[in-house]
Amino acid sequence: MEYSPSPKRYDSMIYNRCGKSGLLLPAVSFGLWQNFGSVDDFKNAWKMVCHAFDRGITHFDLANNYGPLPGTAEENFGKIIKKNFTGNLRDELIISTKAGYLMWPGPYGEWGSRKYLLSSLDQSLKRMELEYVDIFYSHRPDPDTPMEETMMALDTAVRSGKALYAGISSYSPEQTKQAIKILKDLGTPCLIHQPKYSMFERWVEDGLLDVLEETGVGCIPFSPLAQGMLTDKYLKGIPKNSRASKPEASLKLTDITAERLQQIRALNEIAKLRNQSLAQMAIAWLLKDKRVTSVLIGASSVDQLNNNIDTLNNLSFLPDELDAINKILKD
Ligand SMILES: NC(=O)c1ccc[n+]([C@@H]2O[C@H](COP(=O)([O-])OP(=O)(O)OC[C@H]3O[C@@H](n4cnc5c(N)ncnc54)[C@H](OP(=O)(O)O)[C@@H]3O)[C@@H](O)[C@H]2O)c1
Repeated sequence: MEYSPSPKRYDSMIYNRCGKSGLLLPAVSFGLWQNFGSVDDFKNAWKMVCHAFDRGITHFDLANNYGPLPGTAEENFGKIIKKNFTGNLRDELIISTKAGYLMWPGPYGEWGSRKYLLSSLDQSLKRMELEYVDIFYSHRPDPDTPMEETMMALDTAVRSGKALYAGISSYSPEQTKQAIKILKDLGTPCLIHQPKYSMFERWVEDGLLDVLEETGVGCIPFSPLAQGMLTDKYLKGIPKNSRASKPEASLKLTDITAERLQQIRALNEIAKLRNQSLAQMAIAWLLKDKRVTSVLIGASSVDQLNNNIDTLNNLSFLPDELDAINKILKD
């Protein structure tokens, strides 16, 4: 498998400033939570990473535990980067990883202690065969570790050069304020917050986005397609090989209720009138808020990636369309 990046890779992607930082992120970023593990097709994974980059996606999001098996998404991504992104191409990439969820047995293998975070970052760098990541996240708040300890670990990661920026994920508005303040006092500003946000999951609208705007921190919503529900794929049943069809799937069949399907069908009709796929409308709907820096999608094929990136051809909404969408979401 030979790869040489497209010379046109920067022609059509939109790059947004991440909060008030110096870093620009592509409007669409690519997450490797699923479809990149040791159980998945490596050639497909390789194709998706290279194609994403050819279309201007410079930002790839990982975590220590992505797989399955945990750790193998980082290993596979590392192999792809090492073989294909040679020369100075590493400097054209923003690679993020996280620590917070269970990764290894015993008391130091999860949550937010300094011990866990810094050991985990070392392990991630080893698995990806990288000298540094661009963004290192606390993957979730830890109710039992002082916030100062977790933030000091992020600060150390940045000061040691093993990460360039610090981020947090799934912190509440109050916890976010606290984390941002501690990091600022330490001299390592918080770059970005990664919350779950989609048409079906709108908790960030109750305070978090305001905090991020006030403090100049970027926002990168994860699971913007509600793991595939905000597409047309489940309208005619559960397709083979879809996320919901897999054993131990993170998207449960019980999530796809009759009421959900009714909403999805109604949203799909609006998307059709906009000459967009439902996936595209769901991504554009997030990007309409200028506080959203980048939308962090997942994909299981190059076709899905293309479809999602083509969202950028139509990002505007008429007020009537937004009203109609809101009405469906409130029903
Ligand atoms: N910080 C956190 O705690 C956290 C948690 C979860 C995820 N994340 C990050 O967010 C990223 C995205 O999460 P996600 O994978 O749940 O995102 P998502 O974009 O909501 O869902 C992706 C899935 O939707 C389906 N899909 C995507 N595009 C499609 C299209 N155009 N048409 C039809 N189906 C389409 C595919 O499912 P099929 O496989 O069924 O084809 C794909 O795997 C992750 O990779 C990870 O980096 C972070």
